[in-house]
Parts: sequence; structure tokens; C-alpha cells
Amino acid sequence: MAEHFPDGFLWGASTAAYQIEGAVSEDGRGPSIWDKFSHLPGKIVGGDTGDIACGHYHRYPADVALMRELGLNAYRFSTSWSRILPEGRGAVNGKGLEFYDRLTDAVLAAGIEPWLCLYHWDLPQALEDRGGWQNRDCAHWYADYALLVARRFGDRIRHLATFNEPNVATFKGYGDGEHAPGIRGRASALKALHTMNLAHGLGMQALRSERADLVLGNIYNLHPMEPASGRDEDRIAAEMLDAMWSRAFPDPQILGRYPAPLAPEMEALIRPGDFEIIRQRQDYFAFNHYTRLRVRHDADHPFHVAEVPPEPDRKVTEMGWEVAPDALLATMIDAKERYAGDLPIYITENGAAFTDEVTRDGKIHDRERIEYLRGYLGAILDAIAAGIDVRGYFVWSLLDNFEWGLGFSKRFGLVHVDYATLERRPKDSFEFYGELARGAALVRR
Ligand code: FCB
Repeated sequence: MAEHFPDGFLWGASTAAYQIEGAVSEDGRGPSIWDKFSHLPGKIVGGDTGDIACGHYHRYPADVALMRELGLNAYRFSTSWSRILPEGRGAVNGKGLEFYDRLTDAVLAAGIEPWLCLYHWDLPQALEDRGGWQNRDCAHWYADYALLVARRFGDRIRHLATFNEPNVATFKGYGDGEHAPGIRGRASALKALHTMNLAHGLGMQALRSERADLVLGNIYNLHPMEPASGRDEDRIAAEMLDAMWSRAFPDPQILGRYPAPLAPEMEALIRPGDFEIIRQRQDYFAFNHYTRLRVRHDADHPFHVAEVPPEPDRKVTEMGWEVAPDALLATMIDAKERYAGDLPIYITENGAAFTDEVTRDGKIHDRERIEYLRGYLGAILDAIAAGIDVRGYFVWSLLDNFEWGLGFSKRFGLVHVDYATLERRPKDSFEFYGELARGAALVRR
């Protein structure tokens, strides 16, 4: 069976500044929390850091050429706050802005629509030193940064997102401590959660005040949760993780309230008028999705939750994530009902890590990644057929890159990167995705 995607469907790829740029001390960039965290012993697999990453800061022209070859019509990237404002606020780094000028202009010249995400987890370290997202003021620092970016790029970039997966930035950054800034605690995570929600609201207001024609949203991260057993404590754990992971941002931002398992604890942080700030009209509903999660009770975790691996008979990626396109379909249906309504829906990240080998013919025959993509893109066709207005898909990711706590050990790219030479080598999945982007039908299996 072969089916075409609707005309005008957006074929995108997503990346993030710290994961690909490198050049961390060049041209006046200030340090972010990821620079500090990745240099702490034992935090990142292999002791890897994003110091060089994919060297995209210098190699962006070649990377944009790859995007054009791939046939993308949209490219999502993030700006590094501390490249633009080295101290997080105050003095602006002109050279940082100029880099994003060059990148934006190259993307546009390639006929690709740039989608800019303002925050992909790399808070300026100078702001973390003032309490970071645990400090309510951070929401205002963020809004000032958002305004600056809209002022500079709003003439060329219409699609902006306030945050990428703020849930992961709070839950892992200030909850379990596995991500920068590495803080473990419950109160810290809840404070960060509320400040990021406020930052989204203030950011949306600032962006719209600068240009009314911007197309704005937030990039959520929705994964269905299942309790690992029929035990009550596992069911409660699954509800808690669902609240922290999938609901803590879209609920207040779209519905104007915190999800039930968190609401009582959030009371102390909420000031009169906060929900009016947080709840701003969005122009699209975007979310990232990879798998479904199984959850059990864990008394030692700040939120008493732990992830459990998929059942042994399930197909998994190199991340240990179950390959479950049916979970994406279910999530799209649920997202429309709960949040999106008539807004267009975009899947802003989806993809898979597998152990890719360069074979003797110099190629990477990443058949498993192709099958993963085939399954998930099939779920999108099913959703469209069911009346869900999915307008675009952004694969994670264009390039292999720095996978946060897992360093360079996990490869998600359609393009292989040799970290010794920074050489780029398109994988077979690049051809597969490119054919679809250029209008081929998806062959369903
Ligand atoms: C998402 C992140 C992205 C990447 C993928 C694999 O949670 O937004 O940066 O790490 O997972």
C-alpha cells in the first residue's frame, strides 16, 4: 500500500544549538549550564562535551546544502541564549546575532522555512548563578531575550516556539538532576516548572508586542504512560509522571490550570494573575514524541517514579525505547481532544537511535531507522485520515549530535557525523526521507 501526504505537508528536521554548534568559546559566546555540567566528571557518558559537537557553527553552509539536498521545506533550530546575551541579560553579543543572521539567510536562500526555538535547555550559566529557573525573575530575563530575538529575526522568521520540551528541562534539570544544571529535588523542580510557564506567557506577550504577524507556539513532549503493574502505587506513579511529563505545561498554558496530581503543591507558587499571563493564544500545537513509557513506584525518586523497560518481546531502539507508532496515533488523537482543537498540529521531533555502521562500501545501511520512520509516518497518515489536522513532521535529527547525558554514544541523524574529522555522510535513511520530502508516496508495510 502506498499513500501520499497532503500537498503542502511540511517535511522538516530539528536540531538544537548546544547539540550541534560547538564553538563554545568563540566570538564572545558566554557559558551555558550545559557547558558547566558537561565538564563535571561523571555526568556525561564517555566524558563527552559539546565543545566541538558537529562543528556546525563553522560548517553551517555545508549543513544547509545537505538540507536542500534532502528536500526539506522546514528546518527547526534553536538559538543559544548565551551566544546572544553572554551574561543572559544586559550586553548583547553582536557576533552571536550575526551567526544566526548568516544561518537564517542561508536557510531561506535554500528555499527552506526556518522555525526558531528560543530555548532548547541551554540557560546562560550567569543566570543559573542567580537561581536560574528556580528564580521567578528568570521569566522576565527570558522575555527580554525573546523580544531581542524577535526584533532581530522577526522580519525573516515567522515561526517561533518559546521552549523545547520544558518538561524535560524541569524534570531532569531540577528534578532528578540527570541534566544540567544537575539539581535533584521536588521543590526545585516545581519552582522551575512554574517559572518556565510564566516565561512562556511573558515570552509570547513580548514576541507579539514586537510583531503581530509571528506564528507562535510551544514545543511540548507527550508520551502515554502505563503503570508497570496493577499495583496501586504503580498506578499513582504513572499518574504523577503523566502530570509532570505530559501535562505540566500544556494544561496551564492552554487550559489555565495545573494537572490534579500537582495542583495542591503548586498553590504556594502561584500569584494572582499568573494564569492570565501563562495562558496565551497559540497559533499551532506542536509536540515531540518518541515512544510510550512504563512507570513504577520508586521511593527514592523526588517524585516517587521510575521508568521501566518495555516488555521483552517489544522492538526497541538503541535508547531502549519501544517502537510503537500506535502510541503516536493515540497521542495525536488525545492531543486534538485535550488541547489542539482546530489548531494545526506539528510533530516537531520524532526519530530513532540505532548503532550505525559505516560498511565497506562507505555507506550506512540504517534499515532499522527507515522502518521506524516508515511506521511513525504511517501513524501520521492514519491520523490525517481520521480528521486530525497534522500539517508537518520534523525528524530528529538532521545530524548525529551530542545526545545530552549520553554524549556521542547515541546517533539519531539522517546524516552520520565522524566526530574525529567532522565529516558528514548521508545514511540510507537520508535517501528514504528525501524521496518522501520530494513527493513520493509512503509505502506502508
Ligand atoms: C528530545 C530532545 C532532543 C533530543 C531527542 C532525542 O527529548 O528535545 O534534543 O535529545 O530527545
